[in-house]
Amino acid sequence: MDWLDWHTDYDRPDSSLAQRLRAVQTQIRAALDRAPAGPITALSVCAGQGRDLIEVLHDHPHGADVRARLVELDPRNTAFASTAAAGLDVEIVTGDASLTANYRGFAPADLVLMCGVFGNITEDDIERTVDTCRALTTRNGTVIWTRGRTAPDLLPQICSWFEDRDFERLWVSDPAVDYGVAAHRYRGEPLPLKDSSMFTFVGWDVLKAAGRSHG
Ligand SMILES: C[S@@+](CC[C@H](N)C(=O)[O-])C[C@H]1O[C@@H](n2cnc3c(N)ncnc32)[C@H](O)[C@@H]1O
Repeated sequence: MDWLDWHTDYDRPDSSLAQRLRAVQTQIRAALDRAPAGPITALSVCAGQGRDLIEVLHDHPHGADVRARLVELDPRNTAFASTAAAGLDVEIVTGDASLTANYRGFAPADLVLMCGVFGNITEDDIERTVDTCRALTTRNGTVIWTRGRTAPDLLPQICSWFEDRDFERLWVSDPAVDYGVAAHRYRGEPLPLKDSSMFTFVGWDVLKAAGRSHG
């Protein structure tokens, strides 16, 4: 998978990916609308080109209040994000997003983006990552995440993993559409952030070829 090329579907407004982007951005706007006045922290895991968050920050009334860190491995994507984020308080790190150490100084954050992650890692790693969200997210902070509806549809299971851990469901996309987007609010106290690796980014194509679930 070429993760630069993967983003070109965003430029076709009718594509499933562009529709998913709009759903994610609606949830980001809602999270920023809910945030109390004052500084807001955000982080994005496997941020890609950061289109979801960066585009919203440019036009949301609270955009200037947000201090964000985006972690992405592909330097071509971080270069795109850096250009797009000009004028915003957004740090873009070219590095391994699975490492919790990359979120020090930002976690727990008011807004956590896990978009394009859960379809590319094993189920055990999804559950571990959901568990780690308790250290990445503030009390009343929001996690926005995605997972394709490709069979087997793991989205309900991922919702359960969140909801077993004090996350409250705010919104889940219509099961009839092929992309899946959800937002959960953390109702617990943030756990201390320990240095760990949350997942191995295997890639949906590799998971599919191996007969493992993907989406
Ligand atoms: C499916 S894309 C999602 C990008 C973005 N979050 C979005 O939804 O538009 C997955 C991204 O994860 C990046 N990636 C893969 N392994 C990574 C890792 N270990 N650490 C950080 N980024 C990684 C890829 O380069 C790719 O840009």
